[in-house]
Amino acid sequence: MTIYLNGAFMPIEEAKISVLDRGFIFGDGVYEVIPVYSRHAFRLAEHLKRLQHSLDGIKLPNPHSASEWANIFNELIQRNVPKDQYLYLHITRGVAKRDHAFPNPPVPPTVFVLSNPLTTPPVEQLQNGISCITVVDNRWLRCDIKAIALLPNVLLRQAAIEAGCAEAILIRDNAFLTEGAASNIFAVKNGKLLTPPKDNLMLPGITYDVILEIAAENNIPLEVRRVSKEEVLSADELLLTSSTREVLAITMLDGKPVGNGKPGAMFAKLHPLYQTFKRDVMRK
Ligand code: PDD
Repeated sequence: MTIYLNGAFMPIEEAKISVLDRGFIFGDGVYEVIPVYSRHAFRLAEHLKRLQHSLDGIKLPNPHSASEWANIFNELIQRNVPKDQYLYLHITRGVAKRDHAFPNPPVPPTVFVLSNPLTTPPVEQLQNGISCITVVDNRWLRCDIKAIALLPNVLLRQAAIEAGCAEAILIRDNAFLTEGAASNIFAVKNGKLLTPPKDNLMLPGITYDVILEIAAENNIPLEVRRVSKEEVLSADELLLTSSTREVLAITMLDGKPVGNGKPGAMFAKLHPLYQTFKRDVMRK
């Protein structure tokens, strides 16, 4: 497996960073996950826009122009074997003596890009859906930044795993839905898709945008607005989206069936539309 680190391509075994890297010490950095279909990085412009938003949010200058990023990604994609991959891009504030304040003068950022094979969800999950738990969203107030400091998300996902579930659905202030530990969430009520608006309390998902576009193009009723905890708990269907999990039905929540406990009509409509979009748009 070939990776990119600070200007060079190398086997992953040769990649080394300092123990004083601020990513290691403080979690001081941001990341992106970019799916690659048939060697095409999907929605590169949108991912780079979200990356810029994250970098601005932590006051870290972007080390590369869009065309430089594209060249790095394309070379890495060519150097790795699978046609479908996902790129993990990780930028930290670099290596400096341990001090909470930013290094002054600034030091070069650490730039790391990894390619992994992209595997789609197993047939079992597509047929039966997944189980989730609701948890208290106890993260900070800048969840729109794709920060590498993911300890809250890690603990929330682990709580789901320990409950025998695949994802945690995050409820803020015991009142409303934000997102999943590493996904966005849609509820369905009376044939209408409901999902929270992009704000500082959730990551603006690239897959979330794809679902909004597919819904608009196919006249699927949709409301982007705050979704209450009660609406989540009484939804006819719940759906999860992310770059790596695509779109999945949540069929059990907190140990109770969602709707009739099987993937519902909205999932049956959206999943094939997503697959068609993947074939006709993402792979081109
Ligand atoms: N996570 N919300 C959170 C907190 C996420 O971590 C992710 C994705 C999403 C979905 O975003 P997108 O559709 O752009 O993948 C929403 C990635 C996959 C990860 O951390 O591995």
